Amino acid sequence: MKILITGGNGALGESLIKTFPDAFAPSHKDMDVTDKESMAKVILDYKPDVVIHAAAIVGIRECEEDKDKARQTNVEGTQNIVDALKKLNNNCYLVYMSTACVFAGENEKYYTEDDEPNPKNYYSQTKKEGESVAMRYPNTVIIRTNFVPKKQWKYPKAFVDRFGTYLFADQVAKGIKEVIEKRETGIIHIVGDKRMSMYELAILAGSKDVGKMTLKEYNGPPLTVDMSLSTKRWKKYKIE
Ligand SMILES: NC(=O)c1ccc[n+]([C@@H]2O[C@H](COP(=O)([O-])OP(=O)(O)OC[C@H]3O[C@@H](n4cnc5c(N)ncnc54)[C@H](OP(=O)(O)O)[C@@H]3O)[C@@H](O)[C@H]2O)c1
Repeated sequence: MKILITGGNGALGESLIKTFPDAFAPSHKDMDVTDKESMAKVILDYKPDVVIHAAAIVGIRECEEDKDKARQTNVEGTQNIVDALKKLNNNCYLVYMSTACVFAGENEKYYTEDDEPNPKNYYSQTKKEGESVAMRYPNTVIIRTNFVPKKQWKYPKAFVDRFGTYLFADQVAKGIKEVIEKRETGIIHIVGDKRMSMYELAILAGSKDVGKMTLKEYNGPPLTVDMSLSTKRWKKYKIE
């Protein structure tokens, strides 16, 4: 099975490459999803059976500050992949990586695949639009999830009042493998079985010296406060 991964240098990409060691995962420099021609060339030359589309601009501030780049990457980049797959015409299976942040983030709502997205910021808006683009290709699964790599927290502090049903990136990559094996289509939430704060997550990831912060200290674009998801279509994973 030939697998093409976009965003292979990213946090999830690193775990995907460990999980799919034979996959083809060109770097951003060698395969720019915003470049329609070169994206088509990569796909038509490699002829993948599966594309895992994880490339995106994920910074919430970055997306607000450069909306054109966010849209070109997260929405039009997805369209370029879909267009190339339609040209390839081999029924390639498309895995579109989406996020719990497509939801408004009401406290303890535990959104399922049946709930309606309601993005709070431009990043989430582009991810939601990317979902719609990906869904126009028939053999697609949209995976909504929330994860960090199991390593030192990348900021000095973590929120005690933002929550999610997080997983570690390696676990999400294994979950994606299971979804690919079953060739599920539509929307699937890959989630942990425990709601926790980002601070609790940072500690679990092994960061002993991370400080606590609250949303009162935050000054930036609106955030999804409670990113907790549930699922009606898939199993829940124990975070470990
Ligand atoms: N992190 C989370 O909590 C989270 C939660 C849910 C869903 N997601 C989704 O999961 C996916 C992966 O997220 P992540 O956290 O691994 O993000 P990340 O670490 O920022 O990785 C994103 C990757 O996309 C690449 N990229 C950006 N623009 C590109 C372009 N125009 N063409 C090709 N590659 C490009 C980046 O390459 P360069 O760095 O070289 O530019 C990077 O390798 C994203 O779709 C994200 O929306 C993330």
